[in-house]
This record gives sequence, structure tokens and C-alpha cells, in this order.
Amino acid sequence: MTRPLVILPHPLPEDWLSPLKKACQLVIGESPGILLPPKVEAQLPQAEGILSLLTFPVSEEFLAQTPRLKVISNMAVGYDNIDLPACTRRGIPVGNTPSVLTEGTADLTLALLLAAARRLAEASADAKAGRWTAWSPTGWLGADLNGATLGIVGLGKIGTAVARRARAFGLRILHASRTPKPTLETELNARHVSLDELLATSDFVSLHVPLTAQTRGLINAATLRHMKSNAILVNMARGPVVVSDDLVRALREGWISAAALDVTDPEPLPPDHPLYSLPNCLITPHIGSATHHTRRRMAELACENLLAGLRGERLPHCINPEVYR
Ligand code: DGY
Repeated sequence: MTRPLVILPHPLPEDWLSPLKKACQLVIGESPGILLPPKVEAQLPQAEGILSLLTFPVSEEFLAQTPRLKVISNMAVGYDNIDLPACTRRGIPVGNTPSVLTEGTADLTLALLLAAARRLAEASADAKAGRWTAWSPTGWLGADLNGATLGIVGLGKIGTAVARRARAFGLRILHASRTPKPTLETELNARHVSLDELLATSDFVSLHVPLTAQTRGLINAATLRHMKSNAILVNMARGPVVVSDDLVRALREGWISAAALDVTDPEPLPPDHPLYSLPNCLITPHIGSATHHTRRRMAELACENLLAGLRGERLPHCINPEVYR
């Protein structure tokens, strides 16, 4: 029996792919970008599965080239790179990798929050550049976490893991989410508030919402102007949740104090982007889930989803379960 053909638009470490090797023929692209090399494109009509990254757009156009596709397995919890309604219309199940990246991403959120609060990037750059000439009573002053208010926008799995860590630092927690979550609010001593109230009263605002039509541009000139002038914004969600040009103005003109971004719009952010030139903006290259353990677990889940789909079984983590009705 011939093994089903599976497209990987990008290479992954050999051992992460070992569950697929016996069961499938793998056709592997060259980089995590959005373009497929001709050798991979030529195979699309035969492909029965794809293991995609969040950088690869699974669009209507792509689906039109893959008439035999039985499963799409995205190695990410987010799936804004996928035209989900188009997949559902074609009856193709789409898998993602929830839960396994919750703790790693929450760790990085606290790392960014602390780094921005205590101006670590600036202080380290100054030390390296010889600007540390004396212990200064007023040098590199930052913000305290203890007793401050953290507003979490989106109290899902990652937002909750952030809140648990934040409690240990003495932060008071507010959250703006679609619905109140009484059990969690009791555990975290958190209060459910409107986005307006959260922005107007938080010292730190941390974004953990998926990118949807409703959240695109959620943080814009109007909402940034609503924040406290000492506030620090952390974006761990998706770049387009924040309007980059508006953030540049807010940071330049002191509407807010600082930002720490693990995701940006565009992504990657080009080296000449004005956000890099601002000392009060810390940028990391979308590394929320970048630990050895987490990325391996994400690959495992992605392989499990893919193999289940190829066998015609229900995906263990399916984001469009309506395809089974
Ligand atoms: C995801 O899985 O959606 C994350 O953004 C990757 O770190």
C-alpha cells in the first residue's frame, strides 16, 4: 500500500518527525516562510496531509491546489494563518497544539513584564557600552510589581497561568474576557472588568487573546490614550492586536511608559522599524513557546493530529469539530 503524502512547508528536526516517517511520504520545504519551493508545489495535488507552522497561510488558494487533503495539522495553538471556514466547508479537520505551551508562554510573559518594569535591556546595553560609571541613586529606575495592578486581556489558559505567577509577585489581578469566570476569580482573587476599566486602571496590561476580527487593532490610539501614563503593555498574543504605528506614537509621546512585545505587526519586524529605536520598547522574536521541551511536545501533538486525520479518525485536538457532524 502506498503511504499518504504529507507536505511540511518547512524543515523540522528529524527526531521530531519520527512518528511520521513509517506512515507517510514526507515532502519537506526549505524555510518557515510562506513560499513553497517548486519541488513541493508540484506535489500539492497528491497531498493528503499538511503539517503547517503559524507562518504558512492555509488559504482558499492553497486549498484549491490540494484536492486530496484529509487533514491540516498546525504546529501552534493559534490558527489565524488558516482560513478555517474554507477548511470546514471542504470537510477538512484542522488540528492545533493547545495546553503544552501554556506554562512556557506564561514564563516568558513574566520575563518580559519584569524586564520592561526594571528596564533590563537598557541597563544591560548601558553597562556593556561603558555608561555604568558609578552606582547612581537615580539611575535606571523602574516600576515595582508588588502592589501594582495587572490587567489581563483574555483569561484563557495562558492568561490564567500568567495570573498564577503574577500573584506570587504581589500583583492585583483584573481581567477583561468575554465572560466572567467565578471559580478562577476566587482562586486568583481577580476581578472581571470591562476593557475600558482595565486599561484605565492597570499598571501592567498583558494581552492573551487570539487574533480575530474583533481583536484586530484592539490596542490603538484611542485605547492607548485610555491607559495610565506609567503603564507597561505586554503583547504575547498576535502582532495585529496592537496597531504598531499608534504604539510608536504612544511610546514616543509618553502616553504609556513602556512596551514589551513578543509578537509584532509586521512579523518579523524589519530591522529599520521605528519600534526598535525606542529605548522603552523591548522586542523578542515570537519566542513564547521556544523551550526545548515545549517545542518538542508541540511537534508530538502535531504528529498525533496528522496521523489521526490520515487514518480517518477524529483529531485529538480539533478546532473545527463541526466537520464530524
Ligand atoms: C502559538 O502556538 O500560537 C504560539 O504563538 C507559538 O509560540
